[in-house]
Amino acid sequence: MENRGSFGSKLGIILASAGSAVGLGNVWRFPTEVGMNGGAAFILIYIACVMLMGIPLMTAEFIVGRHTHKNPVDAYRTLAPKTGWVFQGIMGVFAAWFILSYYSVVAGWTLKYLVSAVADQVTTMTDSAAYFTEFTQNAWMPVVAMAAVLLMSHWVIVRGVQGGIEKYSKMMMPMLLLIIAVLVVCSFAMPGSDTGLRFLLKPDFTKINGDVLLSAMGQAFFSLSVGMGCLCTYASYFTDDAKLMKTAGSVALIDTSVAVMSGFIIFPAVFSVADVAPDAGPGLVFITLPTVFQTAFAHAPLIGWLFAVMFYTLLLLAALTSMMSLHEPVTSFLIERFAMKRRTATSVVTFSCIALGTLCAMSFGPLADVRWLFGMTFFDFFDFVSAKIIMPLGGFLLSIFVGWYLPKDLVVKEITNNHALHFPRWLFVGFFFLIRWVAPMAIVAIFINELVS
Ligand code: PFF
Repeated sequence: MENRGSFGSKLGIILASAGSAVGLGNVWRFPTEVGMNGGAAFILIYIACVMLMGIPLMTAEFIVGRHTHKNPVDAYRTLAPKTGWVFQGIMGVFAAWFILSYYSVVAGWTLKYLVSAVADQVTTMTDSAAYFTEFTQNAWMPVVAMAAVLLMSHWVIVRGVQGGIEKYSKMMMPMLLLIIAVLVVCSFAMPGSDTGLRFLLKPDFTKINGDVLLSAMGQAFFSLSVGMGCLCTYASYFTDDAKLMKTAGSVALIDTSVAVMSGFIIFPAVFSVADVAPDAGPGLVFITLPTVFQTAFAHAPLIGWLFAVMFYTLLLLAALTSMMSLHEPVTSFLIERFAMKRRTATSVVTFSCIALGTLCAMSFGPLADVRWLFGMTFFDFFDFVSAKIIMPLGGFLLSIFVGWYLPKDLVVKEITNNHALHFPRWLFVGFFFLIRWVAPMAIVAIFINELVS
């Protein structure tokens, strides 16, 4: 079997894990959720979810991966031999494969918009809604775009852990953070941006209800990539001196900052254009923003062009680093279970995802009338199964596995790097309380709410 490889530095570990977490969920989904759920109050609840559930669950996933140094299936098999827990690993690998297939479709849209932005079409289009519909309904363009981004992720994954994932995360993440910083400054400088800032900074607690609470939790899980095989696989390449809780905390901090900053980019810009609504939903970055770029920069088209190019580059970089983390669990599973070469395993994943992704990409055009369960298109079905069923279920099982099944000793040893690190007692008490009680109960609540709605 091939050498598994490992990350070469702590910075590489943090940037790769943050790359998994920071994705379309931050730049596309988070602002959409904030817009639809009332602004600042949603953000506060979201931050509470990240701290109370996200960080403990991420640490739990790191424990499983780093302790075993194996792909998710073999990790659970090693920690719980001859039990049904291996199902958790299998589900993680399947979920990653499923998510990668439809996530690549939206990543493909960002590639298309980046190309359009460079060609100066985004700032000159006359009807942004029609442009978006025409593109997504086209028979082949979304498929070509999806395949192109999958091949980009393939290019990285085939190079392995240090020469691929780590090297490219170290290049892409700083670029992404720099672009975010520049865009935040530009967005603040727009006239009328203070209304957007108020929307993001002044909480209106009357908007909070059960639904908003559960949306915030769901968003936190998706954004932090917890409950799948991704972080567990990355952790299997962590070195023995990596500090698991600190890494989880740093990743959560980077992820949340990027999400909030994306809000700071989008809302001041959106509010600076009078007749554009902040609660436009998923079309926000593909339909609303092009209008904003045009109107806000009508007198300085070159700056509008630059803003659009930087924004869609940001979106593409964010999507790519998350795709890499979805590509790797399936690849490592194939390498280790079926003794495949990395090149072969990566190709199997890439081409099977192109096949599945084609069904999803065509869901807005030629396959729009092909309906599955509850009348869903392929795209909606993949989204529903992975994000609404497998992710909460994966998170729930993870919290039970690490909180209740694994010996407490093993968990403590893993967190403290075999007692080399010293933490105050309250930290362990807090960790076990959150992972044993708070996380599973909260996830059951999300799950029931999703099923009912
Ligand atoms: N966290 C990614 C995002 O915010 O876009 C999406 C994601 C990646 C979800 C990996 C789940 C996952 F396992």
